Amino acid sequence: MIGRNDACWCGSGRKFKKCHGAPGAPGEDSAITPKPAGPLPNPDHVEGMRRAGRFNGELMDYIRPFVVPGVSSAQLDDLVREYTLAHGHTPACLGYRGYPKCCCVSVDEVVCHGIPSPLQVLREGQIVNVDLTTIVNGYYGDSSETFLLGEVSPAARRLVETTAEALLLGIGAVRPGRRISAIGAAIGPFVRSRGYSVVRELTGHAIGRVFHGSFAVPHYEEPDGSNPVMKPGLTFTIEPMVNQGDWPVSIDSQDGWTVRTRDGRLSAQFEHTLL
Ligand code: MF3
Ligand code: CO
Ligand code: CO
Repeated sequence: MIGRNDACWCGSGRKFKKCHGAPGAPGEDSAITPKPAGPLPNPDHVEGMRRAGRFNGELMDYIRPFVVPGVSSAQLDDLVREYTLAHGHTPACLGYRGYPKCCCVSVDEVVCHGIPSPLQVLREGQIVNVDLTTIVNGYYGDSSETFLLGEVSPAARRLVETTAEALLLGIGAVRPGRRISAIGAAIGPFVRSRGYSVVRELTGHAIGRVFHGSFAVPHYEEPDGSNPVMKPGLTFTIEPMVNQGDWPVSIDSQDGWTVRTRDGRLSAQFEHTLL
């Protein structure tokens, strides 16, 4: 588990205890699962999360054909906002801890939290992650995919395919009674065997009626310790970020959000919300 003095997993650059670990942090809650706390699985929670996940997947289905060379990341963001609002739902990212847009679009060496901009026109050869999060009836659905724009280099394609496989391996490790650490134990060695590294500063997370709940889901190996046991009805994301080079990342000092590989090499990500 993350230490109270470690950097927060959300990428804010603050210590965990001052950020998502702070009691009553805005938009956060230590109760990931039904409020008031009750036995799992809670049927309302299950149904709420299924609906949120289903809509978020439909939103990805809608957006996918637009992720092509020539579109700007801001145009994608407009489509996300319009489709979400037209269906009566809420884009979770907008205003979240001051985030200015409705989704994240992360290109090439950007690991995550790329802010859509009209100046950023997508080009052939890029790898582009689109991360969507929607609030449906109070429940959060969160998922992302990395797209290959037109012809990309064989090296970029291999990285993206490996990252998709890493997510599937992580999902395959999910089973009632196991610890959350089983996920990173499945992903870490696989990614290294391909010559890549797993980002450590950002992780998956508990999710439910809050965006980022009380525990982290590391995508690398860590000793079995106080990390939670997976119980039926628990909901969390798996979202490995895989770097072509080394794992350290940096946060853009201007916008405070954009996370990039320190070495400037490529990074890919896929995300699902699990129940
Ligand atoms: N969707 C991201 C995640 O997987 C979080 C984005 S927060 C934002 O956790 F504010 F940058 F949008
Ligand atoms: Co997430
Ligand atoms: Co996400």
